[in-house]
Amino acid sequence: MPIAYPSQRVAYPYFAIALLLFVLQIVFGIWIASNYAFNLPQGLVDVFPFNFARPIHTNLLVLWLLLGFMGSTYYMIPEESGRDLFSTKLAYLQLVILVGTGVAALVGFVLRWTSGRPLLEIPFTLDILVVIGALIFLFNVGLTLIRARKWTVTQGSLLGGLVFLALLYLFDLPFYRNLTIDWYYWWWVIHLWVEGAWELVAAALTAFLLMKITGVPRATVEKWLYVELGLFLFTGIAGTGHHYYWLGAPHYWIWVGGVFSALEPLPIILMLWDAWKHVKERQIPMASPLVFLYAVGMAIYHVIGAGFWGFVHTLPPINYYTHGSQVTVSHGHVAFFGAYVLLNLTFFYYAVPRLKGFTKFNERPGRIGFWWMSLTMMGMGLAFGVAGVLQAYIERVMGFGFMTAQAQMQFWFQILVFFGLSMLAAVAYTVANILTLKPSPVAGGSGNDLKKTS
Ligand code: HEM
Ligand code: HEM
Ligand SMILES: [Fe+2]
Repeated sequence: MPIAYPSQRVAYPYFAIALLLFVLQIVFGIWIASNYAFNLPQGLVDVFPFNFARPIHTNLLVLWLLLGFMGSTYYMIPEESGRDLFSTKLAYLQLVILVGTGVAALVGFVLRWTSGRPLLEIPFTLDILVVIGALIFLFNVGLTLIRARKWTVTQGSLLGGLVFLALLYLFDLPFYRNLTIDWYYWWWVIHLWVEGAWELVAAALTAFLLMKITGVPRATVEKWLYVELGLFLFTGIAGTGHHYYWLGAPHYWIWVGGVFSALEPLPIILMLWDAWKHVKERQIPMASPLVFLYAVGMAIYHVIGAGFWGFVHTLPPINYYTHGSQVTVSHGHVAFFGAYVLLNLTFFYYAVPRLKGFTKFNERPGRIGFWWMSLTMMGMGLAFGVAGVLQAYIERVMGFGFMTAQAQMQFWFQILVFFGLSMLAAVAYTVANILTLKPSPVAGGSGNDLKKTS
């Protein structure tokens, strides 16, 4: 069944722009990895110096993931509330503001215009535009829901996550002269985004997709949502302490952060278990095997990247050695990919064909892309991880200098560049596939899958 509400169409440009930015993000990733992997001539290094190329890589990631979430919200809200969006004009205006701000920020980075905080480097002036874009978004979604007067827990979790996300961003606006205090609040954005607000958004989008593709009753899905949301907030908020160990914050954060962040994998594992149960309880033959593959893959990868990889370095005696090393970077990649990159792609594979008016298409390229990207990210995580363990051992156990460690790590960065090129190809392949999906009456790949899975 194609879409039920015309205003859902605003989602498509959000998705298309997000996907193109995803490809660009990977290109910059390979460039910064090459700076570690090879002794490049200085003239070449200066074209896009590391300290500006890295923010381009990471800000592109944050920007495209957020555009994806917003597009997904615009797709989902009309179906959940049974009403068209309050205003499609506002939705387009918001897209123009956010993408315009993004472009200005990227050009700004090249021209050395930055506020310096990792992942949120964009300067104050542009921050204001981001806030305006976010307010338009919340206004539009909020008014749609108020007018529809139909409240569901799934919507509530989504809206709660989005409001929380926007409020937290405000803590990034002021600059505190005391650096300990500045970093203290910076973590409210970074940590409470990915381990709080975004988890609520993810839980809501996943619940929506599970209802759609498995036909499992709303009551069953939403019963679990309560439990998960409660646990996410309970562990995630106090878990912020795992970033306060060595920051100059009071000592009690060592045990508060240690205990609560060690509990953070619980809701993530619960989400996987919950998704798995719904899939087994499904009531209709699997409508979209590829979306299903993505959804289950995402739940498992989320557990590996955030739950397992996060847990490994979250206890203070271990973090003492690994803090800020490539071990952290390894976790950052696997967790972001598993939890939020795959979430967006799951939603795109569900929504894009429907936005184009069909549900059956050749799913083989989608499956190839899924496995290609997922396995490549495992390789990247491993390369970063080995480099990180070497770094922690050589610098922090043996006490040698930074460059001594870098020399030993270089080989693993060369492996990383190799996986990076594979990732670029896999992402380009997947993006091209999503943007050119065509109906297939015989349902090539999916026809066979229907027999297998139902
Ligand atoms: C989807 C969820 C998650 C994402 C996207 C994510 C991502 C990240 C990123 C990007 C960083 C690096 C920040 C920086 O220093 O620049 C980080 C740090 C960290 N994460 Fe996660 N994370 C997630 C969940 C978790 C969970 C559940 C745990 C614990 C069980 C965890 C434990 C840690 C720790 C301990 C650090 C600090 C490492 C250090 O001291 O250098 N993460 N995370
Ligand atoms: C889905 C794809 C990707 C995601 C989600 C992603 C995410 C991230 C994140 C969150 C960070 C910040 C890490 C931190 O602060 O701890 C980062 C940095 C980085 N990424 Fe990626 N990235 C991706 C693809 C790539 C690719 C393909 C490469 C190249 C091989 C790459 C190379 C790097 C490098 C070298 C850094 C800087 C690490 C440092 O500062 O030492 N990334 N990326
Ligand atoms: Fe955290």
